Amino acid sequence: ARAHIGVTGLAVMGSNIARNFARHGHTVALHNRSIAKTDALLAAHGDEGDFVRTETIEEFVGALQRPRRVLIMVKAGEPTDAVIEELAAAMDEGDIIIDGGNALFTDTIRREKSLRERGLHFVGAGISGGEEGALNGPAIMPGGPKESYEVLGPLLESIAAQVDGTPCCTHIGPDGSGHFVKMVHNGIEYADMQLIGEAYHLLRDALGFDAEQIADVFTGWNQGELESYLVEITAEVLNQVDAKTGKPLVDVILDAAEQKGTGRWTVKAALDLGVPVTGIAEAVFARALSGSRGQRRAAVGLASGRLADKPADAEQFTKDIERALYASKVVAYAQGFDQIAAASTEYDWNLRPGDLATIWRGGCIIRARFLNRIKDAYDTNAQLPSLILDPFFQEAIENAIDSWRRVVATAVQLGIPVPAFASSLAYYDGLRAERLPAALTQAQRDYFGAHTYERIDMPGKYHTLWSGDRSEISAD
Ligand code: 6PG
Repeated sequence: ARAHIGVTGLAVMGSNIARNFARHGHTVALHNRSIAKTDALLAAHGDEGDFVRTETIEEFVGALQRPRRVLIMVKAGEPTDAVIEELAAAMDEGDIIIDGGNALFTDTIRREKSLRERGLHFVGAGISGGEEGALNGPAIMPGGPKESYEVLGPLLESIAAQVDGTPCCTHIGPDGSGHFVKMVHNGIEYADMQLIGEAYHLLRDALGFDAEQIADVFTGWNQGELESYLVEITAEVLNQVDAKTGKPLVDVILDAAEQKGTGRWTVKAALDLGVPVTGIAEAVFARALSGSRGQRRAAVGLASGRLADKPADAEQFTKDIERALYASKVVAYAQGFDQIAAASTEYDWNLRPGDLATIWRGGCIIRARFLNRIKDAYDTNAQLPSLILDPFFQEAIENAIDSWRRVVATAVQLGIPVPAFASSLAYYDGLRAERLPAALTQAQRDYFGAHTYERIDMPGKYHTLWSGDRSEISAD
């Protein structure tokens, strides 16, 4: 047996990761349910490194050095369980199975537990960066037993993206933590994309810019604090001309956004943890609204009640949008990191937010200059109660706040939907409010359900006898 690692599931992501390992000098055993894919990979790229072609699972497992390391790159859900079962039956104590798909973290917790009981190591690894990243350097978020990272880490780190000599891969924490963190990464990806979409919508409909002009705006933004992969590709996408019609491609694409599910999972998990991830939730719901085609068709032309003229100073308003985008992005990340912190406590994962900011700086879809700032924030204070409270981000929001309000107010007055901009601003205003209307909510709950309330001036729980003489009693 000579292979350092095996990859099973050779669709594009799996093939590219296998090639990435081989290009870094690792001997890679290849396996796929149908041998045709394996042969296609070998025919096209077999000369890129040292591959071992295998047909059966037994042959595949037999080709690996011990402890055996197998990366599964198949569809999340049942196909993953089926492959794990086959592998586990052929493997020995101490061998490592890595699931590199977008698995639901609770599935990963379950699988890790069951394989641990059988003496095997199970590593749920989030891998981000799409096809290109898989080949040239993704961000990798492996969770699972710490011991397995000792033999697996160097291999994964060698193929990951690097930023300032640091690999975008580190051991995240136990069992499902790697996939949880990848899920939140995707949630942030949704929020970021929605915010970019709202900025585009405003430039198009409030300022009347065409796609090419908007592309130029994004190109400009990509030279500043907003520099990021998503802003960069936005400019490229907006510059793309449709060969069939000669129009900008973005103008002929159907405006109904799809989703494979990780954003929705993020929101569901956040609801269970009781963490407000409003930016991510608005992004998920905005995709759902865009896809409600029957309702939308029926509603086109409903009253708009427009209250304002288009902004007169296009340059100033463009600057405002840039700042609103930045501030809203800070909120989306702050909320995502809150969710990770809450899960860390709930599942006893001991996650280190600074590590995540570090490995998200390169390789992944949300990579951005901005992540360096987040890393700095957590390096300075690992216990930061909210990213918004870091001095750098406080100041950034202070500089953006008037623009942020102008953008949301203008959008509302013009009837342009900006759910993520608006909810991020509302979140920020809620967070900084000295007194929220929640006191009233508590009183109402106490009124109809005797749910009790706390007082600002005395410890303990209290109840007012609403249907009696309305005196207050202690409810402790
Ligand atoms: C990544 C991406 C990747 C994928 C998303 C798309 O990190 O490389 O997030 O995981 O492109 O799953 O998700 P939707 O289909 O839900 O938009």
